[in-house]
Amino acid sequence: MISNLIVFLSIVHIVHGNATNSSQQTTPDFHVCSLQSFRKFCENDTTIKIDKSLTMIKGYPLHVVYNRVPKSASEMLRKLFREQAESRHFTIENEQIFVPFRLSPEVHREIASDILNAKAPVLYERHMYFVDFNALKYPQPVYINIIRDPVKRIISQYYWTRQSCREENRCYLDMKYFNETLDECVQRRSASECINPAQGVDTILPFFCGHDPKCESLSNYSLNEAKKNIINHYTVVGVVEELYNFLFLLERLFPRFFRNISLRYMSDDQIRIESSTRTTGKRPEPSNSTKAALRKALALEYDLYDFVKTRFQNQFQQVLLTMTNV
Ligand SMILES: *[C@@H]1O[C@H](CO)[C@@H](O)[C@H](O)[C@H]1NC(C)=O
Ligand SMILES: *[C@@H]1O[C@H](CO)[C@@H](O)[C@H](O)[C@H]1NC(C)=O
Ligand SMILES: *[C@@H]1O[C@H](CO)[C@@H](O)[C@H](O)[C@H]1NC(C)=O
Ligand SMILES: *[C@@H]1O[C@H](CO)[C@@H](O)[C@H](O)[C@H]1NC(C)=O
Ligand SMILES: *[C@@H]1O[C@H](CO)[C@@H](O)[C@H](O)[C@H]1NC(C)=O
Ligand SMILES: *[C@@H]1O[C@H](CO)[C@@H](O)[C@H](O)[C@H]1NC(C)=O
Ligand SMILES: *[C@@H]1O[C@H](CO)[C@@H](O)[C@H](O)[C@H]1NC(C)=O
Repeated sequence: MISNLIVFLSIVHIVHGNATNSSQQTTPDFHVCSLQSFRKFCENDTTIKIDKSLTMIKGYPLHVVYNRVPKSASEMLRKLFREQAESRHFTIENEQIFVPFRLSPEVHREIASDILNAKAPVLYERHMYFVDFNALKYPQPVYINIIRDPVKRIISQYYWTRQSCREENRCYLDMKYFNETLDECVQRRSASECINPAQGVDTILPFFCGHDPKCESLSNYSLNEAKKNIINHYTVVGVVEELYNFLFLLERLFPRFFRNISLRYMSDDQIRIESSTRTTGKRPEPSNSTKAALRKALALEYDLYDFVKTRFQNQFQQVLLTMTNV
């Protein structure tokens, strides 16, 4: 099936902290009002109703998990988050393991225990499907993530997979498809067959749906589970198309980790230029009919994307509202 699969197992712990006994730490109030910048508003202004479900910190606020989706600004965020970890002195566990995204129960427990034993606050990053820590009887961390327009992401990943195979010998695809353009793939087979790990392309749904094998197919089941997990466990899911607003929201909701990150991003031309030119220019632009066929095959992914985008925009408005009324 997937040939030539080379897995790099380098684990980078950028900051090594002493293990702490997390059960002894006082558990903060998970509501946004516990954050210094919101306290005043929360205490005394009752004229504006806060939709708590939208701005609430969902999970133990000193443990943040970013289970990054490939080709969705994750490289750029990795750099920004690493800088934040250095300047704001928190632990970052940045797993460079690219595949698999689906992990065994043993690995789930390892991850949960690594996070619990790291010096808090800790930010854990990895390309992996959603792990339910509660089900493992570990404290549920705060989940964050960011997704991208599905067709754009598919095009980007399709050519990125081939580029990293050619240039870095990291080949996450069936080599018999190596030289095909996305147009050729869609013409010769079908759009849905081109959205496939054998082609070096993944889908977004299982990153939110989780580890049930049913999550790996595009279905109503995986869509509904994904939405349920987002509502219950993800404090912020942004969209790449509104990246600045995503960073701004992170900064407001998690100042301990992300204070000043939106300014850092705006003032770093290099980081923005790199992220916009890393793969573009090296790939043919697919035809409009290819894009239309992909869009149709990705209907469920668009359902999730639209859901996330609407939620994110509401959340952003909510936070702006609280700020102007402080
Ligand atoms: C870790 O613990 C050692 C020994 O208790 C101590 O000397 C060191 O300062 C601690 N380091 C951090 C980062 O807390
Ligand atoms: C952590 O703290 C709890 C509660 O005080 C205690 O029962 C437990 O033994 C401690 N664990 C470690 C590894 O120190
Ligand atoms: C909120 O109102 C209470 C009671 O009116 C007052 O004591 C407190 O100082 C106010 N807090 C702020 C931050 O204004
Ligand atoms: C892809 O095309 C190049 C250039 O035509 C050729 O050298 C290479 O063998 C092809 N690779 C595969 C896997 O077919
Ligand atoms: C999925 O849900 C949609 C809308 O609720 C419905 O029209 C469709 O028939 C469902 N598909 C399956 C396979 O259940
Ligand atoms: C915030 O970021 C800007 C731009 O990188 C930098 O000049 C400034 O010193 C930073 N401020 C703080 C408080 O870290
Ligand atoms: C493809 O679609 C874009 C945007 O809808 C349009 O601007 C462009 O002219 C179309 N290209 C072709 C070749 O039809």
